[in-house]
Amino acid sequence: MNKVYKSKLARAIALAFIFYITSFSDLVGQTVWLDQLDLSAATQGYGVPRKNKTVDGNVMKIAGQSYDRGFGTHAESSLQIQLGGKAKLFTAWVGVDDEMKEHQPAVEFFVLGDGKKLWSSAVMRVGDIARPCTVDVAGVNKLELVVTDGSNGNYYDHADWADAKFETLGATTFATFNPVSSEPYILTPKPSATPKINSASVFGVRPGSPFQFRIPVTGDRPMNFSASGLPSGLKLNGTTGVITGKLAKAGTYLVKLRAKNAKGIAEKSLKIICGDQIALTPPMGWNSWNCFAGEVSAEKVKRAAEVMVKTGLVNHGWNYVNIDDFWQNHRDSKDPSLQGKMRDEAGNIIPNKRFGDMKGLADYVHGLGLKIGIYSSPGPWTCGGCAGSYGYEKQDAESYAKWGFDYLKYDWCSYGNVINGLPQNDPYKVSSLSYQGGNQLATAMKPFQLMGDLLRKQPRDIVFSLCQYGMSDVWKWGGSVGGTSWRTTNDITDTWTSVKNIALDQEKSAAFAKPGNWNDPDMLVVGTVGWGNPHPSKLKPDEQYLHFSLWSLFSAPLLIGCDMEKLDDFTINLLTNDEVIAVNQDGLGKQASCVQTIGDLRIYVKDLEDGSKAVGFCNFGLEKVNIAYNDLNKLGFSGKQRVRDLWRQKDIRDISTDKEALDLNVPVHGVVLYKLSPLR
Ligand code: GAL
Repeated sequence: MNKVYKSKLARAIALAFIFYITSFSDLVGQTVWLDQLDLSAATQGYGVPRKNKTVDGNVMKIAGQSYDRGFGTHAESSLQIQLGGKAKLFTAWVGVDDEMKEHQPAVEFFVLGDGKKLWSSAVMRVGDIARPCTVDVAGVNKLELVVTDGSNGNYYDHADWADAKFETLGATTFATFNPVSSEPYILTPKPSATPKINSASVFGVRPGSPFQFRIPVTGDRPMNFSASGLPSGLKLNGTTGVITGKLAKAGTYLVKLRAKNAKGIAEKSLKIICGDQIALTPPMGWNSWNCFAGEVSAEKVKRAAEVMVKTGLVNHGWNYVNIDDFWQNHRDSKDPSLQGKMRDEAGNIIPNKRFGDMKGLADYVHGLGLKIGIYSSPGPWTCGGCAGSYGYEKQDAESYAKWGFDYLKYDWCSYGNVINGLPQNDPYKVSSLSYQGGNQLATAMKPFQLMGDLLRKQPRDIVFSLCQYGMSDVWKWGGSVGGTSWRTTNDITDTWTSVKNIALDQEKSAAFAKPGNWNDPDMLVVGTVGWGNPHPSKLKPDEQYLHFSLWSLFSAPLLIGCDMEKLDDFTINLLTNDEVIAVNQDGLGKQASCVQTIGDLRIYVKDLEDGSKAVGFCNFGLEKVNIAYNDLNKLGFSGKQRVRDLWRQKDIRDISTDKEALDLNVPVHGVVLYKLSPLR
């Protein structure tokens, strides 16, 4: 054989070999391990996504079995993977990591293919042996791995996708992605220098209760306030715009509010309804939990109140400053500022050292024209392990009133142990979701009825916010036990999965919302949040616009959960759009429901007092929505309507709803929020 021939033959053999290998591997495929992909695209409720480690950085271990490879995460968790139809099979062992065995976490794992559920693990708890996840993913373009909170809140939910891998079709690898843009952008125009009164059209108070209403007005200061038609018993401070006093008799009073500065004058009617119901529009304010959790103190609460005034949030209707858990002494904390006697000899609760003078704090907040809220549990312990109200309900209701509190959040927690005869020293929600025997509804209502009645006996109006995560269809009876609002779901976290699942769960209760009775999908997760580990909300800007739009459409209590001292321009802008807030504060008090879905686009409609409707085109999907929408009749519109973009505060066009289409461009996980008003 000559040299040339030999080398040609060698090349031909080599090529044939490569061809054979490639086509063979095309046929048999490969294994791509999940940990070979970029996991940083995942979003999760706590910590950062971990490769081959738990969320706390340990070796993954489920019910005693260790795993070298996988994805350690925390509920609520979502990881998106572009498979492009090139994978056949996804397999993993899933479970709660043993590192949380001192606690009671519960999670559920889901595999979604192109938005459809392909597999779920069912709820898993710590100590459960790992469950095999074997999912046929042939033909799937986008795969999503999700971990939810197992319906008991996302506390300690350390979740492992162990030994997770794909069998592919041919030689390939996959990219993870997060399709939502991260660039913050400002939509709300700055308030004008001329006065504008941003209050709701109604305000409720009970006869004989102290009256306090700070007129929310934007525009240059100094500002002068006046009012005509104020009933006797009330007086308005012309400089601060705060109305105080007392109304002796029930009745409806029509008042004309006026605000004047160097640039001009504004007027607005306010209907004061003195009767049984308070919170005739959803409460708006701040709560300490989502930012400070167990680190709250009187100083932090004072500063939050001061910021509410200084940043001008108060001029848009933000008003309540609410202390959550950890103002009381703690069961067994090592922190000296939480140690001390829970109650005095008469059974009156003693605030912890971080608080001390509760009346002084309430007076300070009232002095700013704001209102103040407090927190307790019907059980012996709060969710965080501080003193609860069980057995001392009367003393507690009286203390709150004596100190001057305007709002009570009353959180089920260890009451579950009371009714099930479980050890009362475990504050976590072990048994909160089930009652053993008995009349379940009566059991669920009892502690709230007790506190509700006691609050009504106090000589001041106290908003009663029920927190029991939606058990026993609370929306059907919360009002009858004196509740002003009630949580409908478990705790929110600053992840898309959490906000989405909570939002999708609101339909069941929507019809029950009305003035004085609000469904509460939990607090806002915008700005710097973190339950003691402060970080910017992990929600992307579009997700935050959607979150705030939905909570407004839902007539939800609006409680800012962030560190007020770290408010950035984007967050302030998000929280100060008066036209969006007006949707939430509308006097009719109807909650929007989802009237139509087009793929992942959900269209919510809320009837408004003036005969117009707010419409939220909400994109829950992974693709932008660009459509000519011509179904306005299906949403209940007819004839000519003026279309206004509420986030941009701009009229878009007039439309003949029977003939014309609306061009919609809705970003991924974003919203277009319009108000349509009939034209004569
Ligand atoms: C949870 C409640 C939270 C927060 C926390 C305090 O049960 O849902 O919003 O109040 O307890 O420990």
